[in-house]
Amino acid sequence: MFRYLLQPLLQLLRFEQAHRLVVLLLRVIGLIPGGRWLLGRCYAVEHPSLEREVFGVKFRNPIGVAAGIDRNGEICKELGAMGFGFVEVGTLTPHGQSGNPTPRVFRSDDERSIRHRVGHANRGLQSAIRHLRHGHPGVVVGCNLACNASTPAEEAPKDVLKLFRNLYQYVDYFTVNVSGDDVQNEQLTHSEAYIRALLEPLFDFRRGQNQYRPILLKISPDLTDEEVDRITDILIATPLDGIVATNGSFHDTVHLSAQRKAGRVSGAPVTERSIAIVRRIHERSGGTYPIIGSGGMMGPEEVQAMLAAGADLVQLCTGLIYQGPKLLTRVCESLLPQPEEAQPEENQAQEPTAEAYPSENQSQTSTEEAAS
Ligand SMILES: Cc1cc2nc3c(=O)[nH]c(=O)nc-3n(C[C@H](O)[C@H](O)[C@H](O)COP(=O)(O)O)c2cc1C
Repeated sequence: MFRYLLQPLLQLLRFEQAHRLVVLLLRVIGLIPGGRWLLGRCYAVEHPSLEREVFGVKFRNPIGVAAGIDRNGEICKELGAMGFGFVEVGTLTPHGQSGNPTPRVFRSDDERSIRHRVGHANRGLQSAIRHLRHGHPGVVVGCNLACNASTPAEEAPKDVLKLFRNLYQYVDYFTVNVSGDDVQNEQLTHSEAYIRALLEPLFDFRRGQNQYRPILLKISPDLTDEEVDRITDILIATPLDGIVATNGSFHDTVHLSAQRKAGRVSGAPVTERSIAIVRRIHERSGGTYPIIGSGGMMGPEEVQAMLAAGADLVQLCTGLIYQGPKLLTRVCESLLPQPEEAQPEENQAQEPTAEAYPSENQSQTSTEEAAS
């Protein structure tokens, strides 16, 4: 349905128009009796071998939706019905904000990438609560948190704490996002002092609660290996529960002056670095801390490599935008035990096969939103 009906239509629209249309469509489907059931029939793959328990939370499968797709928590139930194991809502800020001026999202179909500098556009905390307060049975929901753009760096911990306290009862885990859209700020936001200042108030608040909510940190792929190690050491030394590695990259084929115009690059160009970072964190932390792998997960082969590198869970974003929800089906099917391997304890990533990764990425012409 997506490939033949919706995808050609969406490609005629600018990225954010297409995104709004998909969100609206999913909300309408969610309102129609049997709509969510139909989504499950079309895309979900259910199998006990896909189930995982990570940071004390049970997931029906390890494949989730990355932040940036459900920015306001409007469609987590529909994404769950479709078969995703989890949805990361946001990035949310305390007050709604319109983000950077448009155009701010650019497809590069030849490169299988998306350049984005949305600037955490979202409707804010109260709107998210309105969507999330009714619950989300069957799907794990996390919230990705950051401060408002107008908040000075020294006030950022207050913004993040405000979101955390107010959303605590409505979601299953939190991700503190220090990988924003501002290349200038990367050094500051990934510094140990800044990260600790953001996290300590959350740990303090959580200590006083009856229920435990895992806290993760989402990092940039542009960190040096030493910086990755420093952040891994924070993971080991504090009650931080895990790391989401990674966001899109400022470094890519573009030279420095163009980078800031174009924002972060997500998709195929970041696959290798994201997997390398996950492997590094996994090895340094002795494989004992949860890692969510994000970055360039374009098909089953990349997802399997990410899991093999040490990720416990994986998020789809650019791959999902290019290929639609059938990507979820293909990825989950590739994780099922093969008939001859269907022994007990076979819960691991399988070696990719040619059939597991059919080339569904039709070569499309490069479309820059700015040009449309
Ligand atoms: C259009 C777009 C918007 C995004 N918005 C956010 C966001 O608001 N917060 C965030 O943490 N990551 C955001 N991301 C980053 C994704 O969550 C993901 O971490 C990154 O794109 C790497 O995964 P991918 O290569 O599979 O896309 C966004 C990505 C895209 C393409």
